[in-house]
Amino acid sequence: MFLSDMPEVTMRKTAAIPLQNLLQPLQLAGGGTVSRIMPGPMEGIMHPLFCKAVSELGLIDFWITPFLRISTDVPRDSRLRHFIRPFVETGLPVIVQLMGINPELIAAAAVRFRELGIVGINLNFACPSKQVISGGAGGALLRKPELMRQIVEQTARACPDFSLSVKLRTGYEDSAEMESIFEQAVSGIKLDFIAMHFRTVKEMYRKTDQGIERIVRAVKLAGNVPLIANGDIFSAEDAITMSGATGCAGIMIARGLLKDPFLSRRIRQACGDPDSQAITGDGRIIFFNKLLDIARRDPAKYWSRPQFMELANYMWGSRHPYFEIFKQLSDKEFQAYSVAE
Ligand SMILES: Cc1cc2nc3c(=O)[nH]c(=O)nc-3n(C[C@H](O)[C@H](O)[C@H](O)COP(=O)(O)O)c2cc1C
Repeated sequence: MFLSDMPEVTMRKTAAIPLQNLLQPLQLAGGGTVSRIMPGPMEGIMHPLFCKAVSELGLIDFWITPFLRISTDVPRDSRLRHFIRPFVETGLPVIVQLMGINPELIAAAAVRFRELGIVGINLNFACPSKQVISGGAGGALLRKPELMRQIVEQTARACPDFSLSVKLRTGYEDSAEMESIFEQAVSGIKLDFIAMHFRTVKEMYRKTDQGIERIVRAVKLAGNVPLIANGDIFSAEDAITMSGATGCAGIMIARGLLKDPFLSRRIRQACGDPDSQAITGDGRIIFFNKLLDIARRDPAKYWSRPQFMELANYMWGSRHPYFEIFKQLSDKEFQAYSVAE
């Protein structure tokens, strides 16, 4: 699905509260910390070109990878290494997201990844894609909280003193399911954080005006586990509204990072971070030109016209004049191109 197809939600505005807490690092089990302004995993978007541009511009502090589906077996080490390479190559800490329905296999994959030097595992119980749901994985597991608990517990047992977190939606059909999901699936389990996308699986990306109210409930249900609020944070003001209104321990931004690649830095600035550099110019243009620059330096590794077009579509939408220009350029012209402000 393209960003332009996804309706945006206008959040209820509340009084802005200064949010020093978003600047405080979040402690991970086994040592190390990560930022409370987290990048949302994005399958299909977080390819080597994207990862390199993000890290060269210093746009985020760590990665949560898109999901790796563990179905019938634990993939060979070469496959696991290949999966994490674009993230590891950036030098930033990496949390690997796993998805599946078999607790033993997921736990075994987590052990293998741990040995490859990542800092943590995140378990996906949120993905609403038809293909994933039809296999009973991702968001479908919200209907099987006992199986979710087995997956979480077995992974925790297999990787003691290691960072473990989950990504959830507020329910499968209805957010009223949230209370029983917490109770049955995660209560009493030591997690480093729970990332909560405020929509239900059935809502996919549809508009809801209940985002803040649902996150308030999730924060209460999470108790001592830091609750990371996710959904429709497209500006520093959205981040401040979400954080101030819900008391969440952090925020996660996905599509917002595509619409404004400097969003994380903008949020830090809004929170009064003295170390955050000022941003001058249009962040999307800076980012897109960085992508082009990387592809020019090493076309064999990074040039992919479909990836450029997809990112342009997410950033500007298919009706934007830039998009039209890109469509008409030959590969050679595109590679030599740079977007002017
Ligand atoms: C293209 C795309 C790919 C995504 N892939 C994943 C994924 O692999 N794992 C995951 O947990 N969430 C994935 N998500 C969901 C986002 O991480 C996030 O939860 C969701 O987009 C809501 O946050 P946002 O409003 O900040 O975009 C994906 C979202 C998009 C748009």
